[in-house]
Amino acid sequence: MRGYIPTWSSLKEHNVPKWYDDAKLGIFIHWGPYSVPAWAPTTGELGEVPQGEWFENNPYAEWYLNSLRIKRSPTWKHHVEKYGKNFDYYKFVDMWKAEKWDPKEWVELFKKAGAKYVIPTTKHHDGFCLWPSKYTDFNAMNRGPKRDLIGELAKAVKDEGLKFGVYYSGALDWRFTKEPITTSEDIRFIIRPHTYEYSDYAYKQFEELIEKYKPDILWNDIGWPEKGREDLKYLFAHFYNKNPEGVVNDRWDVSHWDFKTPEYKQNYPEGIPSYKWELCRGLGFSFGYNQNESDKEVLSSEKLIYLLVEVVSKGGNLLLNVGPKADGTIPEIQRERLLTLGKWLEKNGEAIYDTTSWNMEKTETTDGTEVRFTRKDPNLYCILLGTPQYKELTLKSLRIDVKSVVTLMSTGEKLKHQVEGENTKIFFPRLPEEFCTTILKISPV
Ligand code: GLC
Repeated sequence: MRGYIPTWSSLKEHNVPKWYDDAKLGIFIHWGPYSVPAWAPTTGELGEVPQGEWFENNPYAEWYLNSLRIKRSPTWKHHVEKYGKNFDYYKFVDMWKAEKWDPKEWVELFKKAGAKYVIPTTKHHDGFCLWPSKYTDFNAMNRGPKRDLIGELAKAVKDEGLKFGVYYSGALDWRFTKEPITTSEDIRFIIRPHTYEYSDYAYKQFEELIEKYKPDILWNDIGWPEKGREDLKYLFAHFYNKNPEGVVNDRWDVSHWDFKTPEYKQNYPEGIPSYKWELCRGLGFSFGYNQNESDKEVLSSEKLIYLLVEVVSKGGNLLLNVGPKADGTIPEIQRERLLTLGKWLEKNGEAIYDTTSWNMEKTETTDGTEVRFTRKDPNLYCILLGTPQYKELTLKSLRIDVKSVVTLMSTGEKLKHQVEGENTKIFFPRLPEEFCTTILKISPV
């Protein structure tokens, strides 16, 4: 194969590889010194909380340091009360021990959840590096856990045959900026490290991550220092030449990307996008572990499954976040959701993995149940976000050819169907007893 050269037009020739399009579910991990206080107000979902209220009441626990820098914010109050006014955030680094961490156990859980790739934070906005970087001593081998967290995790992930990605906060490093971010303009332009030196540092660290851990995904966050943006052509060409099946996300402030990254409700696509995309979100309102979250904030298993179906039906992947505790264990409520999702996928994955979207985005039944579609040649999967309450069910605005075979996926039973005007009526021999979704497989003959 001809290699990529460091020009934007050469990089454009890179296509989204099939493995990534087919994967559908990945696990994001936010783990760092912020996992020690593990605290944020449970304000709500990004995109639903009014902009002006976001930063002071930031529900992202990994933003603890920024929230603390905002005097009188709920986090500031909590911090002063619990640790005292003079307690520096960076003291949490040495309190982070990861003493119960077993990377193999994590990966076993992610695999059971049905995930095909795993992306940990290698450096979040607080600047602490989770691998022994030769460019800074401020890393997990020297301080805190005293282990190469990224190396150990990368090995466990690859040993299980999953793909591995690296998250890196390219535009923010709060060791170099002292003012709190209070508006989205601050993030975009103002409160960023702007020096050549920092830009170089970020570039070299990405290069180092590529050399050491051979990732399949480069997942940069927030943006890239302005001074170094043209350099990214070199970084991407180098990455693709090493790993032509690799992908890069869209948060670099440059024209090239393989997939877009809406977050919670922010930038959630309307209709079926023509590009590849990946939704990221936590199970609750935070990425980093927030001890204030309970059942009330965390997605129910049912909602989680509906979300995955909805995202996949629109051609997306779901990058579902796990926020481990400082000791390296995964909170019970998160484990439970992952395992339930995995059980569902074990039975119903045929209608999820390796599928594409269809030309119709969605419909509903006449009794108001939402319906989504996925496709895998030659079949169409019709996924009901709910369990039918009656033995007869009418799908709106969908005419299923009389010659097609309709199968109830869970049991393999053939169901009778009949076109009525623009709609199709389906007849069940008895009420389906499924957990939260009913899937009809429609096969042409
Ligand atoms: C963000 C946040 C953040 C989180 C993330 C995940 O924009 O700043 O804390 O890591 O993106 O998508």
